[in-house]
Amino acid sequence: LSALRRDIHRHPEIGFEEHRTSTLVQTHLASLGLEPRVLAGTGVTALIEADGPGKTLMLRCDLDALPMQEESDVSFRSRHPGAMHACGHDLHTAILLGTAKELMREKPERGRAKLNFQPAEEGLNGAGAMIEAGIMKSPRVDAVLGYHIWQGLPLGKVGALTGPCMAAVGRFRITVTGKGGHAAYPHRSVDPVVVAAHIVTALQSIVARNVNPIDTGVVTVGQIHAGTAFNIIPPQAVMEGTVRTFSKEAGRVIPRRVRETATGVARAMGASAAVEYVHEHDAVVNDARMAEFMREVARDIVGARNVVDAEPSMGGEDHAAYQQMVPGCYSFFGAAPRKGEAFPHHHPRFN
Ligand code: NI
Repeated sequence: LSALRRDIHRHPEIGFEEHRTSTLVQTHLASLGLEPRVLAGTGVTALIEADGPGKTLMLRCDLDALPMQEESDVSFRSRHPGAMHACGHDLHTAILLGTAKELMREKPERGRAKLNFQPAEEGLNGAGAMIEAGIMKSPRVDAVLGYHIWQGLPLGKVGALTGPCMAAVGRFRITVTGKGGHAAYPHRSVDPVVVAAHIVTALQSIVARNVNPIDTGVVTVGQIHAGTAFNIIPPQAVMEGTVRTFSKEAGRVIPRRVRETATGVARAMGASAAVEYVHEHDAVVNDARMAEFMREVARDIVGARNVVDAEPSMGGEDHAAYQQMVPGCYSFFGAAPRKGEAFPHHHPRFN
């Protein structure tokens, strides 16, 4: 499994381009006596059937890497410039292949395990593509388990929780249009940079003043682009950011207030703002029975003292799409290094 994982790590492929990884998965599944099927271009599924009738449990992993340059010095570092497994999906894939091997060695007595090697988890909604391609049907999936290796959890621990687990994700783009001109004559222009700065500040009042304090939310502006030189007032400024929520109420209020705040502040300053808002996916909410099932299985494998309550994360996961359809549990496998520095997920030295 370690060799498999390192092979995948060495050849990272970004969302919907996981051709080598997909072939590797198919070859491995076929060697176990399974009949892999391709879905959504690079996704793979296979069915492990017991002799007795029963329910269908889907086990899901993600195949994709991130578009970034690896800077770690491990022997199996990325050979693909500009692509890196910096989130651990290489491990997720190896883990599910290992699970397939175990399930073929010792088949369940009843029911079925449906394996789901999903492409494009990183912001491209590979889960939606797999659902569209029919992953939840024939045979119909009754429940789902997903997992993420987790740098915030010590090695050997399994973290599970009931209820809200990972946040709903929205993204926005605000285009502020002013009037360009010479930097020395601001009174003859409408400076979109100053307007954008006010909008960024005002957006930070939304969580503080519009969301119920008992509830939670995040509004982050991650990009601001404007201007070409120190002595020019540019005509436009463009900002992009993300919204994270758990509750339906916050999920309604924040996008509305982002729109109102941006357009209102811009108008007050003589500019205009156009707001595009996209709801990427819902929150991952773990079913109580599935979470208890996951804990029970984990206790058997790593011992009761290594099964801990995970904390909810404002990170997002498109696994939410499956859990909208059937009961499920998304859990975390400890991956903090035993010694040395733990680089966070999506860091160029993540390992
Ligand atoms: Ni990830």
